[in-house]
Amino acid sequence: MNKFFITTPIYYVNDVPHIGHAYPTVAADVLTRYWKCKGYDARLLVGTDEHGAKIAEAAKKHNQQPKDYADKISEEFKQAWEKLDIDFVRFIRTTDEDHIKMAQKFLQKLYDKGAIDAKPRLYKGLYCVGHEKFMSPEELVNGLCPDHQTKPIEHSEENYYFKLTAYQKQLEQLITSDTIKISPQSRKNEILGKIKQGLEDISISRANLEWGIPLPFDCSHTAYVWIEALINYYTYGSQNNFWPADLHLVGKDILWFHAIIWPAMLLAIDEKLPKQIFAHGFFTVNGQKMSKTLGNVISPDQLVEKYGVDGTRYVLLAAFPFGEDGDFSWDALDRLYNADLANGLGNLVARVAKLCENITISDNNPSINKLVTSIPTTSGDITTLYAKALENYRFDEALKLIWDEIRIIDHYINNQQPWKLKGQNLINVMQVVVDAIRYLNLKLQPFLPETSEKILKQFSGAIKSQPPLFPRI
Ligand code: MSP
Repeated sequence: MNKFFITTPIYYVNDVPHIGHAYPTVAADVLTRYWKCKGYDARLLVGTDEHGAKIAEAAKKHNQQPKDYADKISEEFKQAWEKLDIDFVRFIRTTDEDHIKMAQKFLQKLYDKGAIDAKPRLYKGLYCVGHEKFMSPEELVNGLCPDHQTKPIEHSEENYYFKLTAYQKQLEQLITSDTIKISPQSRKNEILGKIKQGLEDISISRANLEWGIPLPFDCSHTAYVWIEALINYYTYGSQNNFWPADLHLVGKDILWFHAIIWPAMLLAIDEKLPKQIFAHGFFTVNGQKMSKTLGNVISPDQLVEKYGVDGTRYVLLAAFPFGEDGDFSWDALDRLYNADLANGLGNLVARVAKLCENITISDNNPSINKLVTSIPTTSGDITTLYAKALENYRFDEALKLIWDEIRIIDHYINNQQPWKLKGQNLINVMQVVVDAIRYLNLKLQPFLPETSEKILKQFSGAIKSQPPLFPRI
């Protein structure tokens, strides 16, 4: 069986889940379900990133030990993903025993291969705890990190270094040739541009931070949290004979780590490289960055309360193209929900079920559908276009295609006026309609698993009216 291994970033446990985390997670789940529908052994890895200064500080603020604090927040992430129907194969935590062992094994290999300096170098720099990375003076605005509005800490300590510069030429070639395929294209160009400016060796350890994984070759240091966190993908993949990753889905803010540092680490130990890395955009809420200070952080639960599980999955992905930045507002999401789910899909299903209540429709093969496949489109049939959209990570386009089908079916019903028909004439029209809905339902499955299950049940055997799928807001 063909495999497809998808990963999302593992999220820091300094903060509870918000829709910025839910967004790529739902997207990754849709892809996993899509590849499964195509007969692949598709697996999705999700999890939490639990070491480092940021988590240690958050725990301290709450008067807790880092591990206790991480246990609590990690569980919240896990529950949030279960609630959103995320079909993950494992929820990995960087404090898991097997990850700690694998990270140490990996680091030891890097050291043995000479990819890490034998001795630490003295480093002086400005460290932003929010980013968990060193910042160059040029990146600061009035001495502050522009993203966190905090003053970076001056660090002067001995760190071990990974010889990233050694991989510059190789990385450039691998990315240019799409051996590691980075998309969207604009992000690939950005990464190539940065490589051409020149790479620098990077510090991979901390001497004064206890909350981390000790370096196997010098236990007076802990591993730099990013280096250790990236290895989580390999912990699952290598143990389950599932490496390399077919797709790392990441936010544009962390593409550098995934597209440069991670492949270089793998090259250094002669391991297989991830095949694709897709960087999605960021969204604002009502035009503003989501932040605790502004009090506009939206949790996945808030969306689920309003739109239901499938409604949430829908509005997150339908609102704008995945690769681009966009803006969410409650009004816009309400409109999207009402127009497409309550009216579009919900109405169609309710209307058709009602028309079928007193007749018998046979359980036909939905994949042979005359109504939908006979509709000429300018660039090919809807199902092919749908697959293409999904494989290009255009969730919004894939959804638009499904909703085109909904409109086609609605039109057909309006033209045929089945409410005026009786007997076999009525059955003939409704058979076409029901088959079309069953056919459409296959494409809904990755996006709206619960709804699709309901529709499948409702349109098997005797068809009956049910409570609305999506109550209007
Ligand atoms: N722990 C690291 C990732 C390690 S992966 C080996 C990390 N964690 S994080 O909790 O800060 O999550 C960052 C990710 O959340 C971003 O890359 C992005 O995917 C997502 N987002 C956070 N806010 C977001 C928006 N407002 N919009 C879209 N995605 C956002 O970085």
